[in-house]
Amino acid sequence: MDTEIIRFNREDPDMTGIDKAGKIIKEGGLVAFPTETVYGLGGDALNPDSSRKIYEAKGRPSDNPLIVHIADVKDISKIAVTDNIAYVIDDVSNKIAELADRFWPGPLTIILHKTDAVPRETTGGLDTVAIRMPSDPIALAFIKASGGFIAAPSANISGRPSPTEVSHVIEDMDGRIDMILDGGDVAIGVESTILDLTDEIPMILRPGAITVDDLSGVLGEVRIDPAVIEDGSTAAPKAPGMKYRHYAPKGELVIVTGTHKNVTDYINRRAEEEKNDLLRTGVICADEHVLDYRAPFIKCAGKLGDEETAAKRLYSILREFDHDEVDRIYSEAFDTEGIGNAVMNRLLKAAGHRVTDADEASD
Ligand code: TXA
Ligand code: MG
Repeated sequence: MDTEIIRFNREDPDMTGIDKAGKIIKEGGLVAFPTETVYGLGGDALNPDSSRKIYEAKGRPSDNPLIVHIADVKDISKIAVTDNIAYVIDDVSNKIAELADRFWPGPLTIILHKTDAVPRETTGGLDTVAIRMPSDPIALAFIKASGGFIAAPSANISGRPSPTEVSHVIEDMDGRIDMILDGGDVAIGVESTILDLTDEIPMILRPGAITVDDLSGVLGEVRIDPAVIEDGSTAAPKAPGMKYRHYAPKGELVIVTGTHKNVTDYINRRAEEEKNDLLRTGVICADEHVLDYRAPFIKCAGKLGDEETAAKRLYSILREFDHDEVDRIYSEAFDTEGIGNAVMNRLLKAAGHRVTDADEASD
């Protein structure tokens, strides 16, 4: 299949391109599009064939549900049951309206019970539906032009890092889908926060740019799925997608914690040994530390304490390491303040939860 790529000038978006994309969706085709978090791989959420095609293009297990993207808050009522949500005592829809008012359009996905309008192909067989209204103007225009309901996972081949630049989308999806809308680099770089509202107490299933503190400000008590924090071996995550080893680079990734001196000594020692073994070593570090390492492939993730830049760069860095064909990757740990929590969550997953304490290793 030929994949048409439409480049957008953000100052003066090409509406004919958007209309063409909308037409493809209405005819059951697939279009990748930019959102503020990562690029999405969109199909008509209300058409079971479109959802089947999405799973096929991604090479994704079809028990892993898709997020339905909307462009108008009122459209929630078509796809979700909003009058029997357990956790709210008094006015349910007020709480959702409050969440939408505060965080939409933006990087928050909410899970509610679905209506019959949403096929089970879209929800991976579940009777709940994940809903998000993205803030990227190209995404919003595209969703509107497509009829209002776009099912979209991240636009990567299953198991690869989510795409944060159009080159990543082209790398994974060229020839597999009808069209790619090129909106340049994304603004955030890690996927949306997922909040389950189907239980008594709201629960975060995946951390993102919107934090637990942001959400408790509106909802009061908010829990975090234990599987988000633990190493995945004990707790079964509530978001089916979180059980897969996502975001995996080809090289073996290890996170190294400890004092900066011990971390650099440990990594430099390993890099030296690996050089002797003819292995290629990569390092992920803060900008300020770039001169402290002796390894052939060193990538900077932004200044110390700037987790927003780390979020924006992480997936790109992991893909670059794949191109560099590194065998081993060592990463410094990031602060878990704000979006740093989502960055560490993705890094830990990419590392298969391998963490080495350089302070212990140096004893
Ligand atoms: O930022 C994002 O959310 C991006 C952009 C494109 O919007 N999308 C995204 O989609 O990350 P995806 O498919 O890569 O991740 C969706 C996650 C999966 O872990 C899936 O299991 C979970 O959401 N999910 C979807 N529907 C769910 C449901 N009904 N119950 C529990 N988890 C659900
Ligand atoms: Mg994904």
